[in-house]
Amino acid sequence: METEQSTLHSTSGRKLDHINLCRDVNVESKSRSNGFDQWRFDPTALPELDSSTINTQTQLLNRTFSSPMHITGMTGGVEKASIINQRLAAAAQKYNIPMGIGSQRIAIKDPSTATSFQVKQQYPDIFLIGNLGIYQLCEKDGVSQALKAITSIQADALAIHINVLQEQIQPEGDKNLNKPFQQLENLCQQSPVPIIVKEVGCGIDPKTAAKIWNTGVSCIDLGGVGGTSWGYIEGLRSSKTIHKRLGETFRDWGIPTAEALTRNIKIFPDNQYTATGGIRSGIEVAKCVALGAKTAGIGLPLFKAALIGETELFDEIEAFIAELKITMLLTNSQKLSDLKQHLRYIGTKKA
Ligand SMILES: Cc1cc2nc3c(=O)[nH]c(=O)nc-3n(C[C@H](O)[C@H](O)[C@H](O)COP(=O)(O)O)c2cc1C
Repeated sequence: METEQSTLHSTSGRKLDHINLCRDVNVESKSRSNGFDQWRFDPTALPELDSSTINTQTQLLNRTFSSPMHITGMTGGVEKASIINQRLAAAAQKYNIPMGIGSQRIAIKDPSTATSFQVKQQYPDIFLIGNLGIYQLCEKDGVSQALKAITSIQADALAIHINVLQEQIQPEGDKNLNKPFQQLENLCQQSPVPIIVKEVGCGIDPKTAAKIWNTGVSCIDLGGVGGTSWGYIEGLRSSKTIHKRLGETFRDWGIPTAEALTRNIKIFPDNQYTATGGIRSGIEVAKCVALGAKTAGIGLPLFKAALIGETELFDEIEAFIAELKITMLLTNSQKLSDLKQHLRYIGTKKA
């Protein structure tokens, strides 16, 4: 399908390209799944559970949320993004789940765009996660930019996103990272709120995670492959053959979300992980929790629903919650911690 793409290589042009491509084109990984199809719940045929007593509450970063899901950081900085963020914030408030916003880099460079990120005025009770890239954090005044990003939206936490593949393929992408672990440590020491490190779709390997934990971060979002593919999106944005080829080549690059979760949890079982990347149903949310994640992050499906309207967004979230609750009933799981004992590894057989 044709998409109305910006030819600008400005930050706002890029934001618009991302919105339009995510709306109009299949931007997900092509031949690699998120890995959750290698796990299956063993159903209890006759559960002895009153479905009204099922408790889906989870704790993350010292807050209690009603469901183990979060809205991943997605947008801001252009007019279209304001309404999307307002709708996502309304959902975060209604369903008591955390909400991320898109990279605030644009608002730091152009403060006139800051209002598109400011949803706390209308929804003061939500748990709002700010967002900045690791490349911006590694700039000369990166830590002070990150601290500004927190205060400008009254963020309850700040996510630093890692997107090395995306930057390599993005025509105007950043190419140099200067002392990323040192900068993360500096930020953690000065930040008034917890710092999260998140990948955007290639996953975080345990060796890198160990170095990230050493910097003092509070949570890692493993952001694996199996969902939205940012390398592929950057290839689509470019008119150059080389970028298109790179986007295709690396469309499925990375560690599937389920694999990233199981490998990391084994090594750091007590740390707070969230799992994002290709989560497309409440059954997969339940699998994330059973494998040790505090929440599952949902990006593209909520973005698409929010683009249409608030009702469509609420319906989408309610479908995820209903799927999670039915999964819990059918495994006789009254609370989230009960799910683990019902999950079986089945390898590459179909779930
Ligand atoms: C339209 C759109 C814009 C995004 N922009 C950002 C961003 O600015 N910062 C960020 O950390 N992640 C961004 N993401 C990535 C998501 O937070 C998420 O990590 C990724 O899409 C994988 O989840 P999914 O497969 O459920 O979409 C964006 C995602 C979408 C769909």
